[in-house]
Amino acid sequence: MREVDRVIAEKLDSGVPLVGQVARYIISAGGKRLRPALLLLACGALGYRGEQRYNLAAVVEFIHTATLLHDDVVDDSTLRRGNATANETYGNPASVLVGDFLYSRAFQMMVDAQSMRIMQVLADATNVIAEGEVQQLMNMHNADLDEAGYLQVIRSKTAKLFEASARCGAILAGAETPLEDACAEYGQALGTAFQVIDDVLDYAGDATVMGKSLGDDLREGKATLPLIAAMQRGTDPERKLIRDAIEHGSVAELDQVIAIVRRTGALDVSRQAAAREAERAVAAAQRLPAGPHAASLIQLASQLLARQS
Ligand code: IPE
Ligand code: IPE
Ligand code: MG
Ligand code: MG
Repeated sequence: MREVDRVIAEKLDSGVPLVGQVARYIISAGGKRLRPALLLLACGALGYRGEQRYNLAAVVEFIHTATLLHDDVVDDSTLRRGNATANETYGNPASVLVGDFLYSRAFQMMVDAQSMRIMQVLADATNVIAEGEVQQLMNMHNADLDEAGYLQVIRSKTAKLFEASARCGAILAGAETPLEDACAEYGQALGTAFQVIDDVLDYAGDATVMGKSLGDDLREGKATLPLIAAMQRGTDPERKLIRDAIEHGSVAELDQVIAIVRRTGALDVSRQAAAREAERAVAAAQRLPAGPHAASLIQLASQLLARQS
């Protein structure tokens, strides 16, 4: 992971000072670096030790960072990784354009891997993420969104990059199809669980620990699983209150909505949905050759439910 950070720092170089400034601002604030870790663990589990793994691990972190720069603009978010967001500090234009720089830098670096398969997987993933974010935009303020519609968005906007990261590790290792598919399924399931928990934390987390604001989803009128589950389980007046909050995207009723989400057990229902995905991730990792890397992947999936940040 240190080597990945070295590649990241090296590849942020640009003759245009604002590019490096904005990119370093968000990247040096930290982040869990989960997607590069997934790629390296998949490589390790399947026996690849080449230099290209650091390059591609940096690529998936760049793609992730680009999505965050854009996501915070469209979500109008003010806090990320414990700091003011880049859009708050440098403005929307700089965030959008530096996000574009990171996407395109990632594609320059990808070429270096000289693998058409890897290009294909990462190009497809980037495209699907964009589709997921647009789909979510279309779902905004739609109180009739069901669990299937919600899952479709999170598989695209979040799980796809986890899936691609793990799959690329397997491709680098030259793994047989069943092993590559095990890595991909692991990433997809882990990424889905990860986003469900993220959506739970938006209601039940601690902003200081998470480094981002709570209540953002409701403010934007995003019907995430905690709200969908609460609407299914609530009384008629409770359902109406949540419906109004989604349709008008207001946090004025946040306290009442949180109370309903708690009373109906919607957070636990959501955590159980995440747990099922985490179990699917564990089962996929168990199809990989046993060893410390596969063990780490299994551990990661089991610890995910308890994550606070
Ligand atoms: C944030 O991802 C965006 C989501 C998919 C919820 P992470 O929680 O992995 O962000 P960092 O990189 O650790 O800040
Ligand atoms: C994650 O969505 C963004 C992407 C994966 C592109 P969210 O909007 O839910 O993530 P946070 O809460 O801002 O980190
Ligand atoms: Mg967001
Ligand atoms: Mg969120």
